[in-house]
Amino acid sequence: MISRNNNYFLFDTNHTTYAFRVMESGQLEHIYYGNRLNIDMKQENMNRIFEPFIEKKKFLLGNSISYSKEQDKIGLEDLCLEMSSYGKGDIREPFIEIVYPDGSCTSDFIFESASIRKWKDSLKTLPSSYAYEKQVEELNIVLKERNHDLRLHLNYSVYPECDVIVRSSKLINGMNDVVKVKRLMSTQLDFEDSGFVFTSFTGAWIREMNRSDHTVTSGIHVNQTMAGFSSSRANPFVMISSPDTTESYGDCYACNLIYSGNHYEALEVNPYGKSRFVSGINPRGFLWKLNPDDEFEAPEAVMTYSSHGWEELSHRMHEFVREHIVRGEWKYKERPVLLNSWEAAYFDFNESKLLKLAKSAKDLGVELFVMDDGWFGKRDNDTSSLGDWNVNKKKLPGGIKGIADKVNALGLDFGIWVEPEMVNEDSNCYREHPDWAVKIPGQDHSLGRNQMFLDLTRKEVREYVIDSMTNVFADGNISYVKWDMNRIFSDAYSVGLPAECQGEFYHRYVLGLYEVISTLVERFPKVLFEGCASGGNRFDLGMLCYMPQIWASDNTDAICRMTIQQGYSYGYPLSVISAHVSDVPNHQTLRKTPLSTRYHVACYGILGYECNLTELSKDDQNVIREQISIYKEWRKVFQFGDFYRIKDGSVIDQHKNPTGSYQWLSVSKDKNKAVLMDFQSRVIPNLVYNKVHTRGLAEEKEYHFYNIAKKINIKEFGDLVNTVSPIHIKKESITQHVVSKFVKLDEEKEDYIIQGVNLNRLGVRLKQSFGATGYNDQVRYYPDYATRMYFMESVE
Ligand code: DGJ
Repeated sequence: MISRNNNYFLFDTNHTTYAFRVMESGQLEHIYYGNRLNIDMKQENMNRIFEPFIEKKKFLLGNSISYSKEQDKIGLEDLCLEMSSYGKGDIREPFIEIVYPDGSCTSDFIFESASIRKWKDSLKTLPSSYAYEKQVEELNIVLKERNHDLRLHLNYSVYPECDVIVRSSKLINGMNDVVKVKRLMSTQLDFEDSGFVFTSFTGAWIREMNRSDHTVTSGIHVNQTMAGFSSSRANPFVMISSPDTTESYGDCYACNLIYSGNHYEALEVNPYGKSRFVSGINPRGFLWKLNPDDEFEAPEAVMTYSSHGWEELSHRMHEFVREHIVRGEWKYKERPVLLNSWEAAYFDFNESKLLKLAKSAKDLGVELFVMDDGWFGKRDNDTSSLGDWNVNKKKLPGGIKGIADKVNALGLDFGIWVEPEMVNEDSNCYREHPDWAVKIPGQDHSLGRNQMFLDLTRKEVREYVIDSMTNVFADGNISYVKWDMNRIFSDAYSVGLPAECQGEFYHRYVLGLYEVISTLVERFPKVLFEGCASGGNRFDLGMLCYMPQIWASDNTDAICRMTIQQGYSYGYPLSVISAHVSDVPNHQTLRKTPLSTRYHVACYGILGYECNLTELSKDDQNVIREQISIYKEWRKVFQFGDFYRIKDGSVIDQHKNPTGSYQWLSVSKDKNKAVLMDFQSRVIPNLVYNKVHTRGLAEEKEYHFYNIAKKINIKEFGDLVNTVSPIHIKKESITQHVVSKFVKLDEEKEDYIIQGVNLNRLGVRLKQSFGATGYNDQVRYYPDYATRMYFMESVE
């Protein structure tokens, strides 16, 4: 909870403490962020209580700036601060940078007032975290610029249950003149030491969320994007850890922004060995004209800390996202298993083809059928029709309502794909309103996937998008919407903004987008919205405030998905990560992986299918029917359980993890159920013993640990079957085909009753894997890319 005594401020969450004070100079000195302390904030002499915890500044450091004549021992360059203004001797990354009417850029914000409230205020212009009464307290600090009538508000919302502190800032112009804001960060976190590992999650299209670690001992490391969106290039979620941190050990901090636009996270080490972290809107390409009496809000930054490694850090973030970001009808609802038409048909479909697909989906247990791109205008490829949101009657003679009714009649919900922010040159929308597209008048503009942005900074364009989407969503019984966005910005410019405000374009676009989405989400509160941006090009907390789930990547290859989904799992819960089983060879990598592997990986998220189910073999169809039924039974554990990265196969270690094994575990909140996946990247011959263990099971409970043994096709053993077969079976022969229809091999079975404490500490030594010396049902058939799923249920 938040306590203030005199110049001292202290927040306690269940397990952490955050403290700062107002210095004699009026600056805010950061004192502590870490494990919970025990400081009695009711004592009379707070200076005395805090004296041991504060850096004693008696002589100024050589060649540094003395803050003021009165405070001549204070040099801002080597203080831990809550926020730093540019120009008064602190030459590190600033929190705020302003250009004043006379062209000067120096600011000096000092403490003016503080207030504490027992509720959480929403931001006015941006999505924000939310809480019910008594779940949160908020501190508002007002800083006044010493030489100008400008006030900077620093907000701190304290969420004790999740051990999260949310910061945001707001600048109010009380002057009679315009000022220009060059940067306003959301948070700043100063550390008294250095050598932290700065972890970011970077990538590209179909290669999202690759973890990258940089130890910052000097200089600066930056994670940022100028794509216009949070982007697949650099997700705004980052971690700062001490170098020895592991999943279950070590000091670490995490920060994420509730923002979907250009962002900037930097970790800088100063010459005195202190580190500074800042996060907020990317200052590059940003210049905001702040008129008299106007205010500018920076997005909220979500911070958490753990002394027990990344697992606890992730759990705190997951809980926060589930409870205080995701909202509405679908917040706690189990998400439906869907079939998406994209990889099954691309643009080439008509009503009867879709209905065939839907029928087969229903037969296998799918709950929602999604018609992806290609249903509108003359959209037979990606060169035309974005912006023209009327149905293609050649493909769908009965319109959206017609197909939706028919899909509903099969017993399935119906969902639709849209890409509302875009326009193709080849569209009526563009022909009628060429000025609505984002481009610089009189110049050639660059295209991305043959398309341009609609200029959502303009009211009339936002209204057009809202109206056309309202018509689509109301034109039939639509339960789900996939909101796509398939390019990044170039030629950023709005004809709706005067020249001196073009530096506001990127942020104004994001504000416009939020207005459009929030209007539609409010208008259609029961619809399940799924965010998508060529996969994970806009996977962030801003979008999750409106859309409870996001398509994680256009890459459906199970092996790539291990890296991608694990990357997301550091900052985002499985309930927001959408994952599909697709066909092989995979459409992005041409890799072939077993159906069971594709399914197991997609289970750790919101399961869907994206392939032509009608053309699968009967065997595969039966397997999928069983997969979906098991997923439904365990869906709550997968989607809403606590997720553990037991083993990380992303780095193959010759001694500790030679087979590149991943182990993922989801444990239900009540700890009565758990499900673990073991994955092997590559076989190492004659290394046949493997073990799985858990974390987070109730120590005193007993669990039934088992796998569901499947049948193995003899074709998997090729020529080897001849060592046991009474007749010779030639590979790829009719004999092999016929025998394989009738003779199936049994997979090994694991079935034990084990106490939680023993599962957590010792684990289970699994049946040995195939090692070229013999095979029967006591041996694991475990080739490259193989997986197993182990279920655990508590027994009374
Ligand atoms: C990109 C998306 O990520 C895909 O899933 C698919 O919807 C295509 N766009 C459709 O154009």
